Amino acid sequence: MIAAATRVTVSPDAMVRLAEIAVEAGRATLAHYHADVKVEQKGDKGPVTAADHAAHAVIARALADWDPAIPVISEEAELPAFDTRRAWPRFWLVDPLDGTKEFIQRNGEFTVNIALIDGGVPVLGVIYAPALDLLYYAGQGLGSWKREGGGAPARITSRPPLPQHALRVAESRSHPSKELEAYLQTIRVAERVPAGSSLKFCWVAEGKADIYPRLGPTMEWDVAAGDCIFRNSGLRGPRASTLVYNQPELRNQGFVIGLADSELETGSATGRVIWFTGLSGSGKSTIARRVVDALEARGEPVEYLDGDAIRDIFPATGFTRPERDAHIRRVGWVASRLERHGVTVIASLVSPYEESRAFVRSLSRHFHLIWVSTPFDECARRDVKGLYARALRGEIKHFTGLDDPFEAPAAPDLTLDTTHLPVDDAVARVLRYLEEHRP
Ligand code: ADX
Repeated sequence: MIAAATRVTVSPDAMVRLAEIAVEAGRATLAHYHADVKVEQKGDKGPVTAADHAAHAVIARALADWDPAIPVISEEAELPAFDTRRAWPRFWLVDPLDGTKEFIQRNGEFTVNIALIDGGVPVLGVIYAPALDLLYYAGQGLGSWKREGGGAPARITSRPPLPQHALRVAESRSHPSKELEAYLQTIRVAERVPAGSSLKFCWVAEGKADIYPRLGPTMEWDVAAGDCIFRNSGLRGPRASTLVYNQPELRNQGFVIGLADSELETGSATGRVIWFTGLSGSGKSTIARRVVDALEARGEPVEYLDGDAIRDIFPATGFTRPERDAHIRRVGWVASRLERHGVTVIASLVSPYEESRAFVRSLSRHFHLIWVSTPFDECARRDVKGLYARALRGEIKHFTGLDDPFEAPAAPDLTLDTTHLPVDDAVARVLRYLEEHRP
């Protein structure tokens, strides 16, 4: 069908027209699905079949016929330079065939994905699984819809999981991941629901799964249509998503779709400060950095404040009690300001005095003290930076644990002695603790 060029608006008609384009593109892939699949290697992007090209051609033509003013970014076309596309208010994001592995394995769970991005938000989205004749589409403010076979479209809805409930987790059929296994250790899992390609978003949008964690990087065209279908599936208003679009590399670092929407608001309530205290060399920075990586991979806004690194910016900061106290208070103050903007702040400082720690706790709304309690002898035995040897020879004054005290925290929220506790386990404990103590 060739319709006259018109300006695309976000309307029920536009949603349906976009869905028809995906269905037509999907049909074009089926000719290849039922023939012998010819796999070619395209650069380092993995296998690409003739079906991708066929679907891309259908979509590119149909979108140009519809509204030639809207540019198209497709996995199957040359990527426009960031300097060119950064000025685009609206553009199409297309993955003509998502789930090449599913296509080759013939389980039917490959999809055609098209989304319209407007002002950084997916406002129209369609996912079509041609081999299953399964169609999902959505429009901003227009709800999310599903059509199976020749049936009538039906509204699909989802709601955020209740706190502390066991969750049904949509997971990839073809990408097992260490990060996912580590993440699943930190939540209560009721069921793991495998699905191919972008259908995982649809499973969450229609309530078959509660969350879809994807902890590795994904390209924006892999997620845009699914994100639109998820966002507009909310029973009471849009669901919250951390995904953003038209970034320089068109890549998102990791996300969890379907968390309680309030957990993703970057308003005042959801920031927190996780403060690691302990002797030099106790392992606190190693654990803290890994926690930062894990939270970042989930799309949480995180900032890492390392006592050692911040000292270097203020070279006059010494190790006398008043100097340390001032340093700790400064870092605590910065942490509390970031917290107000919804950031999870991970701070790692020796911070040996109860009084300084009490002060920084008082600045924050949600403050958690993690004491890495590895004892002096063990830290001295490891002596990662050679400081213990120098301090024991008397070359460093005011050395914590030697001639300057480490006041054991009276009420730490979590204590980790890394003498016998491997880093992986320490990190898992922190992540589990944070999951159980969401603000
Ligand atoms: S704090 O006491 O002021 O909170 P901070 O975390 O910023 O400490 O810096 C501690 C780091 O500085 C240690 O990890 C260690 O590498 C180094 N350092 C140098 N001199 C000392 C000292 N006298 N006592 C403790 N740490 C020292």
